[in-house]
Amino acid sequence: MLTAYTVRMAQLMDPHCDMLLVGDSLGQVIYGLPHTVAVTMEMMAAHGAAVVRGSYHAAVIVDMPFGSYEASPEQAFVNASRLLKETGAAAVKLEGGKVLAPTVEFLTSRGIPVMAHVGLTPQAVNILGGYGVRGKSPEEAQSIVDDAIAMSDAGAFAMVIEGVLEHIAIEITQKVACPTIGIGASAQCDGQVLVAEDMLGLFDRVPKFVKKFGNMGVSVEDAVRAYATGVRDRSFPGPDQLYQPV
Ligand code: KIV
Repeated sequence: MLTAYTVRMAQLMDPHCDMLLVGDSLGQVIYGLPHTVAVTMEMMAAHGAAVVRGSYHAAVIVDMPFGSYEASPEQAFVNASRLLKETGAAAVKLEGGKVLAPTVEFLTSRGIPVMAHVGLTPQAVNILGGYGVRGKSPEEAQSIVDDAIAMSDAGAFAMVIEGVLEHIAIEITQKVACPTIGIGASAQCDGQVLVAEDMLGLFDRVPKFVKKFGNMGVSVEDAVRAYATGVRDRSFPGPDQLYQPV
């Protein structure tokens, strides 16, 4: 699984990925927000629909933004069903553990597939105080395992495990019924996810758990520099780009 926010990126990733995640990380990656707390339903619906239009094989999962599901199972159903209707996506993802298990049960028993997200949950940054690795104390590690089991028991069809010590991800993967998808977790998870722009090398600074599989930032800069040079020295547009009378 990789994140996708736009139709062209979805088209490029679709043949290679089983799932595309329209993550609320789009708040930072696309909109330059400091964190995901300000991401709206409208943003998720617009980008979710674009990604669905660009995917033919992969299942598209849309993140529920902060504030759209926590108040009650009913609130979650209204917003999750809106996202599925407006985007055509296959499922929604939401962050949280035990407290949200009744919500996941409410959604899944009413026809809405839910991917869970445990461990480091970025929407809770104002409580967590940052994006550091979770589960360093035995108590916190146990609490994350309990969250994961609660989500699986509530009917989540898969779960993201983010930013935890490796032994926690391994224990969860062994204990839960659904597939696990790691990010900063363990190669022993059933799958992996990364923010596409991170792994493509669009950004200079990325979290420790990211491996850059490309150098997109440099490619973009090289192309833009060559374009600007061509415009300034009038080598662009050249004969191949111009319309001539026949
Ligand atoms: O919002 C997001 O992109 C995510 C992934 C990093 C798992 O939740």
